[in-house]
Amino acid sequence: MPNGLPRTHNAKSRTPCHPTRRSTRTSRTRRFAPPRAAGQLDPLCVNSATATTARETNDLPLVWHFGLMAEYWAWFTIEAPEVPQLLKLIGRIGQPVLDLACGSDRILTRLLIAGVDADGVDISGDMIRGAREAASAHGFLPNLVLQPMHELALSRRYGTILICDSLGLGGSRRNDLSMFRRCREHLIPGGALIVNVGMEYAYKAEWEMWTNDGQKRLPADWPDAPIARVSPDGTEFRLRIRTIEVDRLDQTFTREMSIEKRHDGRQIGAESSLLRGSL
Ligand SMILES: C[S@@+](CC[C@H](N)C(=O)[O-])C[C@H]1O[C@@H](n2cnc3c(N)ncnc32)[C@H](O)[C@@H]1O
Repeated sequence: MPNGLPRTHNAKSRTPCHPTRRSTRTSRTRRFAPPRAAGQLDPLCVNSATATTARETNDLPLVWHFGLMAEYWAWFTIEAPEVPQLLKLIGRIGQPVLDLACGSDRILTRLLIAGVDADGVDISGDMIRGAREAASAHGFLPNLVLQPMHELALSRRYGTILICDSLGLGGSRRNDLSMFRRCREHLIPGGALIVNVGMEYAYKAEWEMWTNDGQKRLPADWPDAPIARVSPDGTEFRLRIRTIEVDRLDQTFTREMSIEKRHDGRQIGAESSLLRGSL
């Protein structure tokens, strides 16, 4: 999928990260929030000097992997067909491994189960919480850190750093470059950064928005039908995603998602949010 979007193909459901959480209608368009008290996971940790600069230059990460979207992710975005190939690469390149922008679970727990010494970093406390719950269900307590990629600052150095489905979510090209520098600083000699790249042109609906005709249709209409998924406990999630802006010079896009949670035919939560990415 293009980076940032949930993988919806062939996904199966499983135990959620937040089975009891109930959301009310909110708009969850989060940029960097000021840090809250230590120990609270939900906020985004940010170095205040960098945050000020980022705010001035409008390059704060803009991501939607919180709340209901994090729940949706934990239930349904769980297939990880790339893991065998990743394990081969890790075997060649070396450990420990850092799963950067690890999300709630797709890859990290599978690496731990395979005996890999792996840590995770993510900007979303909700996704980190999901990753922690998934790992602990298998008896692991990995080191999971709430941090934006472009401010990566850990005491450990890694043989392999992975960035899966998350390249370009740094908030700006400048932040993405900073992320690459920080990755380099966190690699031991001979280590490697492994990234995958979600090509916009591989997905017809997304790619159309980059054409002259597509530009005239922005912001795109919401899709008529949502992606509707039902978890084993009968909770239904209805997700809609549309592109609202594409900057062909900057090579950036902004997408909006709207997600609804329903049980017994009643809406029990609804949220909307934005995600900005760079190619
Ligand atoms: C598309 S998901 C991919 C998750 C996981 N890597 C996977 O392959 O399943 C993107 C993840 O990147 C995280 N993320 C987005 N922007 C980030 C940033 N600037 N720094 C750190 N994590 C970020 C999100 O919170 C989310 O968990």
